[in-house]
Amino acid sequence: MTQIAPTLLSLLATGSLILAGCAQPSTNAPRRSRELFGTVDGKQVFLYALSNGKGMEARIMNYGGIVVALVVPDRAGKPGDIVLGYDSLSSYLKATPYFGAIVGRYGNRIGKARFTLDGKEYTLKANDGANTLHGGLKGFDKVVWEPDESTPPSDPVLKLKYVSPDGEEGYPGTLTATVTYTLTDSNELRIDYSATTDKPTVLNLTHHSYFNLAGAGNGDILSHEMMLNADRFTPIDSGLIPTGELKGVEGTPMDFRTPTAIGARINAKDDQLRYGRGYDHNWVLNRTGDGLSLAARVVAPASGRVMEVRTTQPGIQFYSGNFLDGTNIGKGGKAYAYRNGFCLETQHFPDSPNKPQFPSAVLRPGETFTSTTVYTFSTR
Ligand code: BGC
Repeated sequence: MTQIAPTLLSLLATGSLILAGCAQPSTNAPRRSRELFGTVDGKQVFLYALSNGKGMEARIMNYGGIVVALVVPDRAGKPGDIVLGYDSLSSYLKATPYFGAIVGRYGNRIGKARFTLDGKEYTLKANDGANTLHGGLKGFDKVVWEPDESTPPSDPVLKLKYVSPDGEEGYPGTLTATVTYTLTDSNELRIDYSATTDKPTVLNLTHHSYFNLAGAGNGDILSHEMMLNADRFTPIDSGLIPTGELKGVEGTPMDFRTPTAIGARINAKDDQLRYGRGYDHNWVLNRTGDGLSLAARVVAPASGRVMEVRTTQPGIQFYSGNFLDGTNIGKGGKAYAYRNGFCLETQHFPDSPNKPQFPSAVLRPGETFTSTTVYTFSTR
């Protein structure tokens, strides 16, 4: 494993790169560039820089499809990196709670690390007590994806592909997954997922950025105001596995239908919050039709940054960074402490393979799974 280029990342963190890049936007200017970031398993890992010429920049590597940096202007137009992560590839290889990664083959938990499909039981690799979390011991966040650079460099687009062998981590079927990141002119980070399989399997692809709209490393996220477009959530047991019920949020600390500070009720006496050590739950999105639908809006009052999440998926995991404990020393040497970032993971519901009443996460040969999630940034 070799590594290069932390200096570019620190330039990004201070905003100096983005300011230089924005001086004279021109339509044919390159909006995707790359540099070698290191090697893993004998494969080259590149750090791609996408910019939209409107002040937004994303740095994404083909190891784990990880968003390493996401630079977004604040209310005063000052750029800041709003996702948690590391300066070097070696830090990602040492320990990461899925910072910025594409999570699969099955994002979130599958109870007792097993499921039955078409009458056959499959045993998975358990990596979260008796359960499996985020694909198992070596999920899609820990593999080198194949970059496809067939789109012109003037397009801020990065397409990644991973072929997961039949039986990997216990999952049946060779799964071919593609993930396309696009930075749009409207300050959106768009993620399009697709997958096919050669045997019936289960699938739940999601994205695991830890956001802090005040800037990564700038304290906790408890004053961020959260809106979740959901009348119901899926309650969990003490092992964070859904009970199978869809419960109304009305009258509970899970009610984010009107914008509420994340910290307002997070320490309330409530079994669900106790099990999750805070918010670590799946909400059942209110939606009509199959298209993109508003799932969440988050406002950081001090910086003025606003993030909206739209998705085609049925659920969203809101995780308030309860397992962050200051041991991850991130970009610029900043430690990420308790609740210093939050995740909004659009998804199928956790443990769907064992919950026939939940929307199906089964993919069969001949079908193509597709989903899209768009994170839109603005200020107020
Ligand atoms: C899960 C948390 C878990 C975290 C891992 C989240 O998606 O909901 O329970 O601890 O990922 O970093």
